[in-house]
Amino acid sequence: MIKKILKWTGIVFLLLTIVLVVTVSLRQNLRYDAPYPDLHASADSAVVARGKEIVWGAGHCADCHSVMNVDSMLNLGIEPALSGARKFALPFGDIYSMNITPDKETGIGGFTDKEIARSLRYGVHPDGTAVFDFMAFHDVADEDLTAVISYLRSRPAVRNEVPEHRLNAIGKTIKAFMVKPVGPSGPVPERMQRDTSAAYGRYLAFNVAECNGCHTMRDMTGGFIGEPLAGGRPMESEDGISPALTPPNLTTDSSSRLFGWSQETFLKRFRQGKIIPYSHMPWNSYSRMSENDLKALYNFLKSLPPSKTGALKKK
Ligand code: HEC
Ligand code: HEC
Repeated sequence: MIKKILKWTGIVFLLLTIVLVVTVSLRQNLRYDAPYPDLHASADSAVVARGKEIVWGAGHCADCHSVMNVDSMLNLGIEPALSGARKFALPFGDIYSMNITPDKETGIGGFTDKEIARSLRYGVHPDGTAVFDFMAFHDVADEDLTAVISYLRSRPAVRNEVPEHRLNAIGKTIKAFMVKPVGPSGPVPERMQRDTSAAYGRYLAFNVAECNGCHTMRDMTGGFIGEPLAGGRPMESEDGISPALTPPNLTTDSSSRLFGWSQETFLKRFRQGKIIPYSHMPWNSYSRMSENDLKALYNFLKSLPPSKTGALKKK
């Protein structure tokens, strides 16, 4: 009797496993639909310059799309190629950043402007599959998104074959059931007034620089659970040796790291770049932000309500 039950349990288990494996593999390349933003790259030098400012500054593209020593090259006046292939070794597999130079075969040269715009705004690759949500540029204004694409188009094509992502069994299961395209959180502005207002600072913090991504508490699945910018979850070091670092509270609470910081202190800290060498924060990119933008960021952070780290959102 027991033997029979065990046998049938075994068979049922085997069948379920087969069904799961088949479902997971069938769901690896699900296609999604999303609108194509009506944006066109421009060769206008002011537009390209604005794109360059975002790419090497607030947008910190180089932190993920280059494996070179970007900062020393920029200091020498050389613009490094954003030829990708940076590996993110995650518990569910290895993900590689894309070559975003205009190379036709290994980069984005074969994508149209609208395809690049859709990918960044709606998280849908040109072939319709979902983009892994590493980049939170879903709410970047039309004008700035156009500027970024215009800058990428203005750079020389660099051939660099990026390895395919390698997902393990957990990664494939996550991809099959949980990875979906992420799009804008609301209506996307056409353009932003670039002044030092808290409104522009908020746009930089949430839509372009992604301060929010690290400095807000998340649950285990990555969903935001804390008050915005009131301090994030400790981050393990990439080398696995250095201690974990915690993105501090940036609100106006007395426990905030920014409590008592003047605008001058804030600007000075950002100009210094990375101090803790293994910090995850893209300090060096941010250190290239304009004085105007840093002032806007400061004014926005000073307009936040005081919140304690880890505090739950009030419903
Ligand atoms: C936190 C890391 C990170 C940052 C910052 C980042 N990227 Fe990416 N990017 C990635 C990864 C990883 C992929 C590959 C995603 C995938 O294949 O699903 C990618 C893919 C892309 C793609 C290709 C999308 C497609 O459909 O194939 C473009 C274009 C792109 N990034 C542009 C940018 C630009 C422009 C910036 C800066 C404004 C930027 N990225 C900043 C990690 C990053
Ligand atoms: C990829 C994650 C990440 C992002 C994005 C990020 N931070 Fe941080 N931040 C950290 C971590 C980790 C620390 C603690 C280690 C350190 O000081 O470098 C930190 C520290 C800080 C500090 C304290 C610095 C000091 O010297 O005491 C300030 C201020 C700060 N972040 C502001 C910001 C602002 C503003 C943004 C957006 C423009 C931002 N951060 C984006 C992870 C991040």
